[in-house]
Amino acid sequence: MDYRDNIEKVLITAEELAQMVDNLAAQISRDYADKDLLLVCILKGSMIFTGELMQRLTIPSQVDFMKVSSYGSGTTAGVLKVHLDLKRDDLDSKDILIIEDCIDTGRTLGGLSRYLKGKGCRSVKTCALLDKPSRREITFAPDYVGKEIPNEFVVGYGLDYDEDYRSLPYIAVLKPECYN
Ligand code: IMP
Ligand code: MG
Repeated sequence: MDYRDNIEKVLITAEELAQMVDNLAAQISRDYADKDLLLVCILKGSMIFTGELMQRLTIPSQVDFMKVSSYGSGTTAGVLKVHLDLKRDDLDSKDILIIEDCIDTGRTLGGLSRYLKGKGCRSVKTCALLDKPSRREITFAPDYVGKEIPNEFVVGYGLDYDEDYRSLPYIAVLKPECYN
């Protein structure tokens, strides 16, 4: 089967993604020139974005990984579940930049920012490749955003639908019959 048969439309091409990541890397390289940058990649969706972003930074950086999920309802922040945590003892000297694939309700990044601030990191900021501001359920604004998108479920460039389609080199919307 060819996965391209399941694609309704390409929302962001590989070329546009490269441009978006270039711009983010330039801003971050500028803003973190005098800091001690630790990128925290949120698994699994941010793996490709994090790798591409890291390669374009002109300043030193380290990378680490977390896996989290969040539950909640209404406008309360809800509960953050940490499936994989940072295991390091130097967080008090690190400027954390959380790397997320897509912001929807805001619960995941809102909850994780608060969690990492509570661990005594020197600073905690957030960077998302995609943002769907119309979906927000809590008050949360990321520090860096690649692109705002409308309220559509997207896949590719690390983002999945039921664990599939992460390998697509662009951001796409699937045909309606592919979602069940
Ligand atoms: P939140 O609602 O902002 O907490 O987002 C929850 C999670 O949903 C994020 O970690 C995203 O990875 C994921 N997510 C949000 N929108 C999409 C999408 O359109 N496609 C795939 N994953 C998404
Ligand atoms: Mg995710």
